[in-house]
Amino acid sequence: MTTYLGIDIGTSAVKVLLVDQHGSVLDSHSEAYGIDSPQPMWNEQNPDVWWHATCSSMHSLKARNTAAWQGVAAIGLSGQMHGAVCLDQQGRPLRPAILWNDGRAFEQSQTLNRQCPNIGHIAGVPAMPGFTAPKLLWLHEHEPELFQRIHKVILPKDYVRLQLTGTYYTDVSDAAGTLWLDEAKRDWDDDILQACYLKRSQMPQLIEGNESSGSLLDNIAEELGLCADVIVVGGAGDASAGGIGIGAINEGDAFLSLGTSGQIFVAKEQHTANPEAYIHAFAHALPKRWCHMACLLNGASPLSWFASITSTPIATLLEEAEAHYNIHQTVYFLPYLTGERTPHNNPFATGTFDGLTAHTRRDDMAAAVLEGIAFSFRDCIEALNQSDRPLTALGAIGGGTKSTFWLQILADVLNVSIHKYQGSETGPAMGAARLAILGHTQQDIEAICATPNIERTFVPNQSRHRVYLEKHAHFSKLYQALLPTYGHTTW
Ligand code: XUL
Repeated sequence: MTTYLGIDIGTSAVKVLLVDQHGSVLDSHSEAYGIDSPQPMWNEQNPDVWWHATCSSMHSLKARNTAAWQGVAAIGLSGQMHGAVCLDQQGRPLRPAILWNDGRAFEQSQTLNRQCPNIGHIAGVPAMPGFTAPKLLWLHEHEPELFQRIHKVILPKDYVRLQLTGTYYTDVSDAAGTLWLDEAKRDWDDDILQACYLKRSQMPQLIEGNESSGSLLDNIAEELGLCADVIVVGGAGDASAGGIGIGAINEGDAFLSLGTSGQIFVAKEQHTANPEAYIHAFAHALPKRWCHMACLLNGASPLSWFASITSTPIATLLEEAEAHYNIHQTVYFLPYLTGERTPHNNPFATGTFDGLTAHTRRDDMAAAVLEGIAFSFRDCIEALNQSDRPLTALGAIGGGTKSTFWLQILADVLNVSIHKYQGSETGPAMGAARLAILGHTQQDIEAICATPNIERTFVPNQSRHRVYLEKHAHFSKLYQALLPTYGHTTW
């Protein structure tokens, strides 16, 4: 039996998926890790943590699937985007990786936008803290000695590739998130690189998501019990990989991702940018395809935060919120625990509960968290609608889609039908596995990237939608009222 692996280097865990030649899941294994936050607004991870979690997940899968493991022919990688992994001449990390939700490079983002006024059109979106390019400007300013020793700057999943194959490659969809990519040409932009004191030779080589970046190193193949001719394909940034996993590859195919971060993603057959609305107009992971994304730093993560500070499992919070839900409740939550990207581009925004009284219960607050995140998604859809045809239906992926209660709130707030697909929680790892199949077999893209069967559709209810529109207006007013109280008001 020929089999494939899809590996997703997430923010909170690695997930490894073992699939058959049709992409059906045989088994999966996930291993969690944490984020280091040495200062407010800083988020870092040690790249070796990703590699060790990947190896141990692969060993677990191997132990459980002896025959299928022998058949692995190709590996696809997906991962958290925008992370800055700085390597020395020997390919060793010079420091912990600076992650996508790190807000330290706010001044450098403004510098880059001033120096490259056309960056929003070339790289698909203006510089914002969290993207790779401004982080390298920050390092140039704050860690100059380390900066001089940078041999390569790569992305999180490509660090795992380096350990597997010994090669420096990235795929265009992940490269897009660096802001050094000319999205239309699908090539590095030398001027933006130069504005960050970097050269093309410090970048990994670019390939499409379904192209091979080489085969396994002999010692790694032996250690993992795999054949040395197993290839590792380009793979994709987690957003594009999520799209490949549910077949969002043709013009207008759209989905909502409710993971640690959140996105509304629309596949495009041409590159067009709308930088004013902070829409990310990036390369998709398959040739001649692009996407538009509205991106939330705070997807489902504020619900995890609320569960952790109330020492209550997420499932209990969801049950309580649903059991006592009253759409007219007046507790509001602004979910900006790590600042926000679309539509505010404000790393200084913070989270807020509003409308608490002596009668407020935990379930009111949990419901406010679910609604607040849904209102953030409404901001995303409004930003996308400025340049795209209004969306009427969205697929849904990510851990948050386990809650049918939340999916109905989202459908009502956004006024779109939401399709929950079978296996929707496999997320980006499935896209990575599908790219591995495509890279190995050269099969038809449409056949491999099929849309999974719909498990359930959540249809918007118009009377609830009208209530939510009023509540969303209040939510927006709260943000505007609080804006002057956040740090760096000149931002
Ligand atoms: C996309 C984005 C997230 C991260 C983490 O722009 O920031 O998808 O990759 O999941």
